Amino acid sequence: MATSFRVVSVIAVLSSLFLLASCQTCSNYTFSNNKVFSSCSDLPCLDAHIHWNYNSSTRRAEIAYRATQEPTGWIAWGINPTESGMPGSQVLVAFLHSNGNLIAYPTAITSYDPPMEPSSLSFPVSNISAEYAKNEMIIFAVVGPLGNSSTVNQIWQTGTSVSNDIPQMHELAGPHLQSLGTLDFLSG
Ligand SMILES: *[C@@H]1O[C@H](CO)[C@@H](O)[C@H](O)[C@H]1NC(C)=O
Ligand SMILES: *[C@@H]1O[C@H](CO)[C@@H](O)[C@H](O)[C@H]1NC(C)=O
Ligand SMILES: *[C@@H]1O[C@H](CO)[C@@H](O)[C@H](O)[C@H]1NC(C)=O
Ligand SMILES: *[C@@H]1O[C@H](CO)[C@@H](O)[C@H](O)[C@H]1NC(C)=O
Repeated sequence: MATSFRVVSVIAVLSSLFLLASCQTCSNYTFSNNKVFSSCSDLPCLDAHIHWNYNSSTRRAEIAYRATQEPTGWIAWGINPTESGMPGSQVLVAFLHSNGNLIAYPTAITSYDPPMEPSSLSFPVSNISAEYAKNEMIIFAVVGPLGNSSTVNQIWQTGTSVSNDIPQMHELAGPHLQSLGTLDFLSG
């Protein structure tokens, strides 16, 4: 009895290590559209990853943001050019639209209860597309020119519901309140 319990525990530990490794490694991730990014970072929460190619002379970044999500939920990633919190952040959001397509668009976060409708951002954004693959939503975009610093405040989020094609409030606990930090486009 004791022996079989130990065997089960070892298997459980090994498989959780394996899951950890396979979930947290962005560097060997292959995009189905053959896009290649020279840098990436496994974000510390919400099972999210950011990939990028940054050009320091144009101060533009080609990005792919991916996060585990159910088809009924939404994901968002963005930059806050002025501070580190949610208000003022300039984000890209993706979700399954009622027309059946996974869509992505830019939206400026004006408050803690933002409209989440398409809007322009404080910096240019182009080439936006979205994809659902391997239980993840992925947003592709080109952002910039950004500010003079290669380091930005980044913020990311996931939510479980979309109503009338508008992403609804995310949870206000745990990882959903820790999903922000800095990103240096020249590192990694
Ligand atoms: C990436 O590498 C990790 C650890 O070596 C492996 O577990 C995972 O399956 C790999 N992922 C892909 C998409 O190849
Ligand atoms: C950065 O952009 C400039 C201007 O478009 C271009 O000449 C240069 O090749 C780009 N650098 C990289 C690394 O892509
Ligand atoms: C963005 O889209 C334009 C027009 O489709 C294309 O010419 C350009 O190569 C794209 N840029 C990137 C970085 O994908
Ligand atoms: C970036 O640097 C240039 C030259 O030093 C300066 O003129 C410009 O105002 C700076 N832009 C920002 C957004 O800080």
